Amino acid sequence: MNAQPLNDPGTPRGCPFGHDTERTRLYGPEAATDPRGIYERLRKEHGSVAPVLLEGDIPAWLVLGYRDSRRVLDNPLSFPRDARIWRDWREGRVAENSPLVPMLAWRPDCVSQDGEAHRRLRGAVSDGLQSAADRGVRRHATHFANKQIDSFADSGRADLVADYADLLPMLVVARLLGLAEAEGRRLVESCAQVMKGGEDAVMHDGVIREIFGELAERRRSEPGSDLATGLLEHHAALDHDEVVAHLRVVLIAAHVTTSLLARVLELVLTDPARLSGLISGQLNISAVVEEAMWNSPPLAVLPGRFAASDVELGGHRIEEGDLLVLGLAPGNLDPEVRPDPDVSVHGNQAHLAFGAGPHECPGQNIGMSIIEVAVDVLLHRLPGLRLAVPPEELGSTASTWMSLLDSLPVEFQV
Ligand code: HEM
Repeated sequence: MNAQPLNDPGTPRGCPFGHDTERTRLYGPEAATDPRGIYERLRKEHGSVAPVLLEGDIPAWLVLGYRDSRRVLDNPLSFPRDARIWRDWREGRVAENSPLVPMLAWRPDCVSQDGEAHRRLRGAVSDGLQSAADRGVRRHATHFANKQIDSFADSGRADLVADYADLLPMLVVARLLGLAEAEGRRLVESCAQVMKGGEDAVMHDGVIREIFGELAERRRSEPGSDLATGLLEHHAALDHDEVVAHLRVVLIAAHVTTSLLARVLELVLTDPARLSGLISGQLNISAVVEEAMWNSPPLAVLPGRFAASDVELGGHRIEEGDLLVLGLAPGNLDPEVRPDPDVSVHGNQAHLAFGAGPHECPGQNIGMSIIEVAVDVLLHRLPGLRLAVPPEELGSTASTWMSLLDSLPVEFQV
């Protein structure tokens, strides 16, 4: 489906429901505790596209509707990812140290490009991920899962967010990229801070780039079986900055696997039937992952796309250079595609959690393998695993982009 250019330049810029004067903040205390409440209120007030403010009170359009999100993601000519056309950026309203910069600013990486430039860089990343993965995602995941579990197995209790989900996917991905375990552990915190936004995001982004700059230098003289080497040797002939940018982008993109693992473990541990079904082999973990992908996609809001020209979307007039952010979580709950959100979706992977269109996640199989191994090893290593608090005490904290489970306290037999 092609985006329709506006034929009528006099179309008012605004909400078809007449609520366009005030923009809602997608950050701050309310967004941190009840993002879903905000999405549903915006849907009622504005329909499938709503005017919002991001950190620094930078305006954006939040796409809430499933079909409108697909229309944006599937049409890179009308809605490119290249932030150099972002009007607020071009006109100097986004501070250099804004937490939006690591998420949205242009960089020499595949996420920031469209068309042929995107195909060249994405080809190098996909080929590199494929061959690094062929050399053993499951093996690395099993190794690090057992190592993390060893660190708390004797105590009979753990917090599966801080002690397991926050670490395991990042350690596996850092290994695939070519880092030693200690460097992988340093990156876990920096990556989480970049995703969280806030004032330290830019500083932590610098730490990540420094570690990957050193890795790229090292692999030039000492090649290994990893993504860093794969990118350096790829026929697309990436230069140093492009190699570093892609190691960074893969790490940041893969970070969402930590939140997905936490949500999957939450689903398993808050429902005894799911837990026993998995242990007995009657339930397949992929069904639980699919449920999490529909109901709590780890990237709740995807940054971002920019309007290439004035265009109509969801009844609103979007102007050239406007920023759009894609509500993957509200899109998956759009009443037009899911009239009853309490009814689980089975055997349908048309959710938005991996994005869509040319930028759709190239690491999804790696992410899925890590989750499967992580849950499997945990359930088989820790007999009698159960939640140590009532389910209603589990809380989440959200940034503009993600809603993270605060903790998942468990106990088990030793
Ligand atoms: C399992 C959980 C994961 C989820 C839910 C997820 C989600 C996403 C989404 C929504 C996008 C689209 C971004 C956009 O359109 O701007 C994306 C892109 C990307 N993902 Fe994932 N991802 C996951 C795991 C991973 C892993 C494990 C890796 C790598 C090891 C990875 C690497 C990437 C890369 C490189 C991109 C950028 C692709 C491009 O711009 O062409 N992801 N991911």
